[in-house]
Amino acid sequence: MPDDHRASVPGPADAIRPLLRTRQFREFTAVPPTAEELDAIVDAARWSGSSQNTQPWRFVVIHDEASIRRIAAAGMPLTRSLQTATAAVAIVLPVSPERAVSLAYDDGRAAERMLIAASMLGLGAGIAWIKADTRPVVADLLAMPADRMVRTIVAIGRPTASARAPKSEPGSARLPRSEVVFEDRWPGG
Ligand SMILES: Cc1cc2nc3c(=O)[nH]c(=O)nc-3n(C[C@H](O)[C@H](O)[C@H](O)COP(=O)(O)O)c2cc1C
Repeated sequence: MPDDHRASVPGPADAIRPLLRTRQFREFTAVPPTAEELDAIVDAARWSGSSQNTQPWRFVVIHDEASIRRIAAAGMPLTRSLQTATAAVAIVLPVSPERAVSLAYDDGRAAERMLIAASMLGLGAGIAWIKADTRPVVADLLAMPADRMVRTIVAIGRPTASARAPKSEPGSARLPRSEVVFEDRWPGG
């Protein structure tokens, strides 16, 4: 069979392409996602796996652009994606120092799923970390109880053309495979 025919058969790398296309967006147009799109994105998050299936998260979908902008202003520069986002999802977690690592892991899984879901819908999303000194602003705006906290807010919207432009030369945004992936043993070990 000629090589060019085989090259056109989709393989594993093609199947996972939606994951590789997922990236951080920080600038959005004024056109908000639809309610249906937001529901789908949050469903992707709430179906994430979590430690012992505790599902420690609660998700606050923020539609109010004034609130989104206030969080953006309070948390710069980490929150710059919220300067133009037309929707956002706050991942609310219990305050629990003894579970901190496990909760942070679950937080990351839910956040990444929302980025992937947004990308699959042709939207874009970005992670905005909320530092400890910004958390009171978020807690107040979202009327949260004292035993919950927000570390991650996912900004969601329709990326602008410039935000969609590649941020770096093709193939250069990650370390070379040879520096990151090893077979069976640590190299030289
Ligand atoms: C744990 C974590 C926290 C992040 N926090 C922020 C953040 O607060 N603000 C921000 O703009 N980007 C944040 N990012 C996005 C990274 O900067 C981004 O993923 C990285 O630069 C690679 O860009 P790419 O995903 O578009 O390839 C965070 C990413 C991760 C994984």
